[in-house]
Amino acid sequence: MKDSLIIFDTTLRDGEQSPGASMTRDEKMRIARQLEKLRVDVIEAGFPASSNGDFLAVQAIANSIKDSTVCGLSRANEKDIRRAGDALKAAKSARIHTFIAASPIHMEMKLRMSPDQVLEQAVQAIAWAREYTDNIEFSPEDAGRSEPDFLCRLIEAVIKAGATTINVPDTVGYTMPWQFGALIRSLRERIPNSDKVIWSVHCHNDLGLAVANSLCAVANGARQVECTINGLGERAGNASLEEIVMAVRTRQDVFDCETRIDATQIVPASKLVSGITGFPVQPNKAIVGANAFAHESGIHQDGVLKHRETYEIMRAEDVGWGANSIKLGKLSGRNAFKTRLQELGIELASEEALNHAFAKFKELADKKRDIFDEDLQALVSDEALTPELEHYKLVSLKTVSETGETPFARVTLAAGHQEQIVETTGDGPVDATFKGLEQIAGSGAKLVLYSVNNITSGTDSQGEVTVRLEHDGRIVNGLGADTDIIVASAKAYVNALNKLHSKRERLNPQMEGA
Ligand code: KIV
Ligand code: ZN
Repeated sequence: MKDSLIIFDTTLRDGEQSPGASMTRDEKMRIARQLEKLRVDVIEAGFPASSNGDFLAVQAIANSIKDSTVCGLSRANEKDIRRAGDALKAAKSARIHTFIAASPIHMEMKLRMSPDQVLEQAVQAIAWAREYTDNIEFSPEDAGRSEPDFLCRLIEAVIKAGATTINVPDTVGYTMPWQFGALIRSLRERIPNSDKVIWSVHCHNDLGLAVANSLCAVANGARQVECTINGLGERAGNASLEEIVMAVRTRQDVFDCETRIDATQIVPASKLVSGITGFPVQPNKAIVGANAFAHESGIHQDGVLKHRETYEIMRAEDVGWGANSIKLGKLSGRNAFKTRLQELGIELASEEALNHAFAKFKELADKKRDIFDEDLQALVSDEALTPELEHYKLVSLKTVSETGETPFARVTLAAGHQEQIVETTGDGPVDATFKGLEQIAGSGAKLVLYSVNNITSGTDSQGEVTVRLEHDGRIVNGLGADTDIIVASAKAYVNALNKLHSKRERLNPQMEGA
């Protein structure tokens, strides 16, 4: 029998460290449920000591996830470890992940600690963590640039202290695949108690090598890979879960391990994360990009029609493409709607939220014949379902655009109980609309990103718009979906304004002085 390759997903922790990818507690919970459905082994739910909001999010996930281990990150200090331990108390299976920098540059310039002090602190951290659980992961941060002799000494000591997983991070994405593979092999060979732990890797994508580095590590004995949906993560991101899982699955001839992932949940997970964070997936992204299984050239199309394997090494349906067959339409009732949401892992907080979502569904079904799962996902963002919490409401919008004429918009926006109407012009109908909304709201926010995607295919598809606003260093993403992309744009802008206005905490833990 083959070894198990443990899939450790850090979308909710490292992924959330992407600027602009901060999530609410409800959003984190929805992603955690999808990760459980995907059958990831470990969900790193957050960094409890980084903020009260993140503590509560980890706690909520620990309370409700049963089929995956729930993990909390902590620096190697007592306060962080106790926060992680407390947040994870109710988890069926909990893990504390503690880390401290191990490279000369990090120890000297950031921690201002000697290697001996770092080693002592790491061993002490494991002792604190053991008060809560036996499932302890230790990471020597920036291992890719650390001195191998010191790494060996440090890791041997933390294993002796009780660490059960050793995670080797290439924190800055610096190593080459063959170097990283050799590092894992040599650590396993040189450290006398290395057989007592699972070896894990955590690779960043600064040189586009995160997946290659992770796979080389697996070929050299790593049995856990840390990764994220869509490769989300700090800077250029982390190794992408879908690429790791499908590489190992497709090339079983070269890997002596396998994962327990349900690959048909990959595309739904990708769409969920993209929808919540507002980070679109590039069309040519492996596995989850819209073109990943599309054949354009005549020669390729001809080949695939004659014999699929001529140009396809995986089947689209195996990773969840095509799972979006039409499930609902105009005549579907409330029960069918509720059941489909449940099948998608979406649980609405109250009957009132369900009624509101159903009303929105009916509105959409009037405009669009076929309603796909992606349409439903777009309908149920937490803001969309809690209209009473929205300060701004788009009441009506009229735009005029004609060749040779200046685009015009008349916007009616309610702020609290007061409605205001303005008429504006702009470089295009979207520009005119945004100017009108901003004129009424007066938020002073800067538009830093505007992107449009179609949720499903066809000209009656809903356009999904992401608007990112920045104000006083705070970044929020607004999402809006509609069959009319100007209306979708206005909804997205209003959604972002509401987030800026809202006191609801958005979680975006950034590590300081780690
Ligand atoms: O990149 C990194 O080193 C990390 C650690 C906390 C594992 O994210
Ligand atoms: Zn990282």
